[in-house]
Amino acid sequence: MQVRPLTVAIPKGRVQKALGALFAKAGLDASVLENDDRKLVRQTADGRMRFLLLKPDDVPTYVEFGAADLGVSGRDVLLERRYDLYQPLDLGIGRCRMVVAAPIDRAVMPDVPRVATKYPRIAADHFAARGIQAEVIFVQGSVELAPLVGLADLIVDLVETGSTLRENHLEIVEEVVAISSVVVANRAAYKLRSAEITPMLAALAAAVAARKST
Ligand code: PRP
Repeated sequence: MQVRPLTVAIPKGRVQKALGALFAKAGLDASVLENDDRKLVRQTADGRMRFLLLKPDDVPTYVEFGAADLGVSGRDVLLERRYDLYQPLDLGIGRCRMVVAAPIDRAVMPDVPRVATKYPRIAADHFAARGIQAEVIFVQGSVELAPLVGLADLIVDLVETGSTLRENHLEIVEEVVAISSVVVANRAAYKLRSAEITPMLAALAAAVAARKST
């Protein structure tokens, strides 16, 4: 029986680029990640590994159901929805912060502020933990718009450089949690394919450590 190549689910976009560099540093061939084509399945030249290019939110789903053995996911996605996955390694890439932000020129906050976010669970947990009542409103994106047009008083969203907040006259009120990209592993694959996964994670961990010390 032919064994399926080790299958790694990758988020398309910003993290995909950073991952190519990290894999190379770890001595792993992931050059197929750098191709500019539209192929969603990309196999390495030696045929031992293949990458699935997915929307970031879908990575944990593919791994949990075993369509991929490993994946790379932001902690934001993992915190927002609960998955039954191992999280064996923090890659230290895709770093950003989940924050509460408000208009710079805001008036006094209402007793029950409205909070717009793509992360309703993270937002609700955050305010509940502080004993603050808040009405959480789910939006899909362009979250920074919500306070500008009266949809919400606050937002909970990711901040990387801070330019989206600045350009929309918003400022950080508090940090909710630090976010980075982590390796997630299917529980069965982690055991059954440990001969492939363990050395790969060790090489990646060494590359992450080397990045930190430079
Ligand atoms: C993300 C996030 C912020 C922005 C932060 O949005 O939701 O809007 O990036 O980055 P910055 O601090 O570097 O400006 P994304 O680009 O994913 O688009 P979205 O609004 O559709 O979610």
